[in-house]
Amino acid sequence: MARPYTLESFIASDSIKNLIKISIDSAKKQDISCPHSLIVGGAGTGKTTLSNIIGHEMDVKMHTIMGPTITKDMMLVNKLMKMKTHEILFIDEIHSLPKNVFEMLYSVMEDGFLTMRIGNNTMNYKLKPITIIGATNMPECLPTPLVDRFKVKVHLNLYTNEDISKIIKLNTFNDRGITFTDDAVTALSKVCRGVPRVAINYVDTILDYAIAKDIMQVEESDVQCGLDLIGIDRLGLNDTDRRILVTLYETFLCMPTGIETLASVVGQNEKILATQHEPFLISSGLLLKTGQGRTLTEAGLDYVVEVTSDEA
Ligand SMILES: Nc1ncnc2c1ncn2[C@@H]1O[C@H](COP(=O)(O)OP(=O)(O)OP(=O)(O)O)[C@@H](O)[C@H]1O
Ligand SMILES: [Mg+2]
Repeated sequence: MARPYTLESFIASDSIKNLIKISIDSAKKQDISCPHSLIVGGAGTGKTTLSNIIGHEMDVKMHTIMGPTITKDMMLVNKLMKMKTHEILFIDEIHSLPKNVFEMLYSVMEDGFLTMRIGNNTMNYKLKPITIIGATNMPECLPTPLVDRFKVKVHLNLYTNEDISKIIKLNTFNDRGITFTDDAVTALSKVCRGVPRVAINYVDTILDYAIAKDIMQVEESDVQCGLDLIGIDRLGLNDTDRRILVTLYETFLCMPTGIETLASVVGQNEKILATQHEPFLISSGLLLKTGQGRTLTEAGLDYVVEVTSDEA
């Protein structure tokens, strides 16, 4: 797996890369800490990778904590007090922090002070100048005063097929000399849901397939054979995607259906359905989200008729 560690090798829009580059270059020239940065994006879109890149480009130590593991404010206090000048605290899943820890971060990020209440007294402790980088896939769960304290905000949207192709190419490198044709890369890029981690996982499976079958040049047809092994069809749909569409057809007879009802019949968590399945089904033109609920498009209906008749 080729995990990029320089900004140059990170595949992203020019606007994102320019914003990060300017903040890093400016901080370095002034010999100050990098600005507090918030990185928002769905699962596998590069939040951790980009945070590591900022640490690497700034050439400073990055400490990492997971939001859900911080249950008491003292856990953060201990971490912050040990940090040295310009170091970075990367808070992954920052939306999971308790409310009092959010509040503690306000003065840390604004004035560099840790404000602690001990009995009836308030104590202010001046921290070294540090950077907070937060990552989240649930920005709506962050309090506005916290969001406002991040000078740099980056939203890693779903990637274009062109950018996914670049990520695929970076990850097809292998020590057996197996190569992918351009057509194979293009075909694969279309089924990766715009998510780098999905692309990388698919490349791995296809490479396993190629090695097992003694294939030295992966063609478009080999891509589909590899994906068949993990239940990914020619449109990039997985088993749960298919179940969603078939349920809308067979159980709800194409009537608009609320996400809660749909999730319970499909047997999937509502949030996962909304974040990991629905966007791809909508962008593939198979599912429609209306005020009344979810329903199949004409293409979605054709797809269900095709898969259910294949199964019969
Ligand atoms: N823009 C990119 N360019 C190249 N590779 C990328 C890019 N974004 C992500 N990747 C690769 O995709 C994989 C997933 O990235 P990463 O772990 O950073 O995602 P994440 O957003 O932190 O995911 P999660 O929400 O699960 O924490 C990694 O192997 C990473 O190297
Ligand atoms: Mg991550």
